Amino acid sequence: MPKSTPIPTPRVLIHGGAGSRQPTPSQSMCLTEALIGGYESLKTGHSPLDAAESMICYLEKSGLFNAGRGSLRQLDGFQRMDASIMEGQSLSAGAVAGLEGYLHPICAARRIMADTDHVLIVGRHANRLARHFGLARLVHRKSSTPLMNKRNSRNTLNPKSQALYRQLGLYDTVGAVAMDRAGHLAAGASTGGVAVMLPGRVGDTPLIGAGVYADDTAGAISMTGLGESIIRAGMAKHMAILLGLGWTPLKAANYALKALVSRIQGEAGCLILDRTGRFAIRHTTPWMSAGYWNGCGKPVVKSRFP
Ligand code: GLY
Repeated sequence: MPKSTPIPTPRVLIHGGAGSRQPTPSQSMCLTEALIGGYESLKTGHSPLDAAESMICYLEKSGLFNAGRGSLRQLDGFQRMDASIMEGQSLSAGAVAGLEGYLHPICAARRIMADTDHVLIVGRHANRLARHFGLARLVHRKSSTPLMNKRNSRNTLNPKSQALYRQLGLYDTVGAVAMDRAGHLAAGASTGGVAVMLPGRVGDTPLIGAGVYADDTAGAISMTGLGESIIRAGMAKHMAILLGLGWTPLKAANYALKALVSRIQGEAGCLILDRTGRFAIRHTTPWMSAGYWNGCGKPVVKSRFP
């Protein structure tokens, strides 16, 4: 008799970033609320894409994370935000980089996926599209004291910048992955970047295959951490390939993160969910605020995943 395939359980995972700073109780509460909303969305028949987008929107709006309202500023004093979203059935994806003045970069990414022939739109053209789509505005205030002047711009070019990023540990990028009862997968992420970044800098978050990947034949991944290292290691796609080869999420995450650290001294955390519903949350940083829920008991949110 053929072995029966297990019926996938709808499941949502979320993160509020990995770094060297301990997550606050309000951040943990916000992640819990977002998980509940995301799971409800799946339960009421919405797609994994809808669930991932709604969870990320909740975090962007809160102002508690480095995404949306709470985004860090680049050295010229402006917030420029990146986001991406992907679904695993058709491998459709959308992304935005360097978006200014909009509350929900993840919604811009979703609209780019759904309503254009493209995957990634950047800068002022992304702003124009967001306006065209009627997305919610973020009151755009230039920092009263631009952070870039002759003295500290020299610092940003200093090779010690990476060590500085690490000390500040401001990687509170947000992200989510979701699976519905049909086994369809989605992943997304949204960020305001990292501490001490040159104007125009773009990290891993809007790059499909680096910060985010979803493929129903393998799994869904959302990354957080130092974007420069995550891009160089092609982290999300690397993990998806390992899942496709039958590796467990835990083994795939451990392997890819270990390589990231040993090859390029990178720092990162990940949500990784495979097509059967197995998942792992792993990080190389001291802390990672993240959680998961499949509708049973209470949502689990923690600050470390050893
Ligand atoms: N992981 C977020 C960034 O590097 O921009």
